[in-house]
Amino acid sequence: MIIGGVKATDIVSKHGSPVYVTDEEAVRNNYRRVHSAFAKHMPTRINYACKANSNLAILRILEQEGSCIDAVSIGEVEACLRAGYSPDRILYTGVNVSTPELKGVVGRRVPINVDSFSELRRLAAISTDVPISFRVNPEIGSGHHEKVVTGSRSTKFGIPLNKIVDAYSEALQLGFRPVGLHFHLGSGGQDIEPFLKGTDVLVSISQRLEAELGLGMKFIDIGGGIPIPYHPEDAPMDLDHLAEEVTSRIKNGTSAQQIVLEPGRFIVADSTVLLTTVVDVKETPDKMFAGVDAGFNTLVRPAFYGSFHHVAVANKFDRPGEITYDVVGPLCETGDHLARERLLPRVEEGDVICVYDTGAYGFSMASNYNMRPLPREVLVNKGEMNLIRERESIDELLRHQRMPSRLML
Ligand code: LLP
Repeated sequence: MIIGGVKATDIVSKHGSPVYVTDEEAVRNNYRRVHSAFAKHMPTRINYACKANSNLAILRILEQEGSCIDAVSIGEVEACLRAGYSPDRILYTGVNVSTPELKGVVGRRVPINVDSFSELRRLAAISTDVPISFRVNPEIGSGHHEKVVTGSRSTKFGIPLNKIVDAYSEALQLGFRPVGLHFHLGSGGQDIEPFLKGTDVLVSISQRLEAELGLGMKFIDIGGGIPIPYHPEDAPMDLDHLAEEVTSRIKNGTSAQQIVLEPGRFIVADSTVLLTTVVDVKETPDKMFAGVDAGFNTLVRPAFYGSFHHVAVANKFDRPGEITYDVVGPLCETGDHLARERLLPRVEEGDVICVYDTGAYGFSMASNYNMRPLPREVLVNKGEMNLIRERESIDELLRHQRMPSRLML
């Protein structure tokens, strides 16, 4: 198995295991693919949703490609500034944003996509000299799992649909000049239909803003959520069809000059694999377990959402499947699995298992559960390999703990 021109087993020999490996070319190609699909039709801004993967090298690669950023926290804002993005290329979209965090974002001169009336009023008390837009709750949701559907009416996100014109009106009274309108339906839903219905909602809001407040939107932002085919038999979403349908609605129905999208998963998911070593093989009356050194501390998606990630044995890539395994990690929880019931070549201790499509919400959702240090990340490109994150040490894990001196007596 070769990734970005480098043998998977060489990466593990050099950098240890588990390790996330990102192919730079794939990140660049995915960015270009989504940008050009929409830019064919109208001016397009891609705000990469960096919650998917906020490694500085990946942020830098996308900066070079001309991407902009969707940031959800002051930490993400700061990472992107350090990766070379100017503040105007970042849009901060928070939820339940604290006043200190709002001050931090304003202080860094980053535009804000406002999620509530409370946030709007607290922001006005800090400064009105900041470009704003609003996130509406369009009452249309989509997503690969109920936990990631954000646009339906019952979620915590956005300004309620029946209040959205009032929000712009209040913003104008407070002295803001709102420039955009946004939704995010959810993440990884397979259907195009919710995007089209949602765009119709944005178009009709934008028409009301023009008619009732004389306010034209500079941009219409349809959020993120473009799915990828995780299963070898899944088909990719027809991006060209999506782009054509969405942009024609915006062009025909509004005076907006720009469409904005916030893909995270689409840009990075398939750029990265997780390589993990088989450390134990166990046969039980019911199952064969391939025990590996990555658990849901390393990749939480299978345990948390029941997500499917394709797996293969990197050093036996050419061999046919022979035995059905559950691939399970080192955490003390029964839910600690990476893959269930997969037909693989016979595995032995020392084999390297490759978990596919782990570039989005892989490392970024990793944790220290069971006091396990975070793994390394490696970038590969045309046969070259670079370390882009050092493995955490046990000392670093313990660094922030404090022992009251009375307990040492
Ligand atoms: N914009 C906003 C406002 C978002 O909340 C998100 C994702 C995105 C854009 C990017 O969505 P994407 O294009 O990556 O689907 N941890 C979950 C996904 C949660 C996504 C949260 N918000 C997972 O592993 O599937």
